[in-house]
Amino acid sequence: MAKIFIETTRLILREIIFEDVERIFLLDSNQDVMKYIGVKPVTKLEESEETINKIRKQYQENGIARWAVIEKESNLLIGWSGLKLSTEPLNGFRNVYELGYRFLPEFWGKGYATESGRAVLEYGFNKMNLDKIYACADIQNVDSNKILKDKLGFEEQGTFIDNLDNATCHWYELVKEKFN
Ligand SMILES: CC(C)(COP(=O)(O)OP(=O)(O)OC[C@H]1O[C@@H](n2cnc3c(N)ncnc32)[C@H](O)[C@@H]1OP(=O)(O)O)[C@@H](O)C(=O)NCCC(=O)NCCS
Repeated sequence: MAKIFIETTRLILREIIFEDVERIFLLDSNQDVMKYIGVKPVTKLEESEETINKIRKQYQENGIARWAVIEKESNLLIGWSGLKLSTEPLNGFRNVYELGYRFLPEFWGKGYATESGRAVLEYGFNKMNLDKIYACADIQNVDSNKILKDKLGFEEQGTFIDNLDNATCHWYELVKEKFN
């Protein structure tokens, strides 16, 4: 049984397991999903197996990584959301916790990114006792910037160039005291 970390009104956030490989492939091979991510969509199932391997290694080494988001109504994996310990420099920051999320297009526009993101932040600040959580989004990714800034309360700290694809991204932080 996959370990469940959070339950919200409509969603379950649990560890990603190897049996999720086909849903993760569906997600990461979708051009619309990957438009602002900085890497090309995957084309082979093995690439998603490798992704799951990496994520599960992060669970072991860091105690946390992205979690599968399951829609209770359909019992389907609809995407992922969660904190990652960024061990590689990101905008010059290293070993910081960063919020991320990614959903299949048929589940956009339902408030799931916001619902899961809020629950993850609550977990980070109150269960993990973090003081600060970071996030970033390509400046052209209007929906994601709206979630971070307007819905989750992140404060923009400026922009930086993402090494992956040279895209300009907004850099955000949220301190525990400002999370409500
Ligand atoms: C970015 C992404 C997660 C945004 O998803 P989303 O579904 O638009 O985001 P939200 O969860 O905030 O949903 C917002 C919409 O749901 C609507 N909604 C419908 N029912 C709702 C409900 N019960 N509660 C809240 N909102 C609801 C809202 O009106 C809102 O639309 P609006 O912003 O036009 O007002 C999604 O586009 C995605 O996965 N993109 C690909 C990956 C990606 O770019 N990830 C981010 C990298 S930085």
